[in-house]
Amino acid sequence: MISAYFNGKFVEPNESVIPIDERGHQFGDGVYEVIRIYDSKPFMMDEHLDRLYQSADAIKLRIDPNREALKNTMLELIQKSGLTNLDLYVQVTRGMAPRNHLFPDGPVSVSMTAKPFRSIPVGDKGASVILHPDERWENCYIKSLNLLPNILAKQLAYEQGYLEAILVRDGKVTEGTSSNVYIVKDSSIITTPLSNHILSGITRMVVKNLAGHLRIPFVEKQFTPDQMVKADEIFITSTTLEITPIIRVDDKQINDGTTGTVTKALQEQFKKIF
Ligand code: PDD
Repeated sequence: MISAYFNGKFVEPNESVIPIDERGHQFGDGVYEVIRIYDSKPFMMDEHLDRLYQSADAIKLRIDPNREALKNTMLELIQKSGLTNLDLYVQVTRGMAPRNHLFPDGPVSVSMTAKPFRSIPVGDKGASVILHPDERWENCYIKSLNLLPNILAKQLAYEQGYLEAILVRDGKVTEGTSSNVYIVKDSSIITTPLSNHILSGITRMVVKNLAGHLRIPFVEKQFTPDQMVKADEIFITSTTLEITPIIRVDDKQINDGTTGTVTKALQEQFKKIF
């Protein structure tokens, strides 16, 4: 089965050789998306495409204006992969040119992979997170390939036995290294408002809609690490982690250390979408 694509060719991932002078490889000069496909049905694909184009625009990357063609290539890869439940990774970079910081004139590079779901490591049991300084730049709304601060913080969490690092900037919680973060207090969901300091998560958008459906107040305001550890519930979301309960922050247990009722209600509604 074919499970990758690079600049016009469907290939096996190990067959595809990225040229040395490729801007994604040399500079991380590009943007990406991760889209989940449930039972052969892409989930929120148009919203992911919107964000891909917004990210590209923000870094002055001239992505293929024919959005339908790009979407069709994505759908073709899904079909060729033979998988029904998969994560589709799409990356667009500023293309190939001898290494020079200035923008090249040539076409962009597009690569994609289709991989079976990695299982969610914690499921309903809940996971633990650490708090970590947000050392990223000012433009975290761009889904850029430059993820060094994210991977360093995530690795640190992993080495200590935690699932995720939750980032803190100027005394306020921003988001996880690859997830958005929410607390529940007095039956309201509170999450960091959208700004240039967080990624506008597609799962966040879904959770906001589900909260509306369940008539649970969804409050977009900043909160501190202290408010986080004193919350009734915490959960994080992403395309691959879906809605993951958090039951421990550093060495502090949250509430009674089990998944809370609001988180459970959201998880149940989320499952009903597919
Ligand atoms: N990450 N914040 C950051 C920094 C992220 O990297 C992600 C997703 C999210 C959640 O966004 P969404 O709900 O649209 O997946 C928030 C992806 C999954 C990744 O890098 O693998």
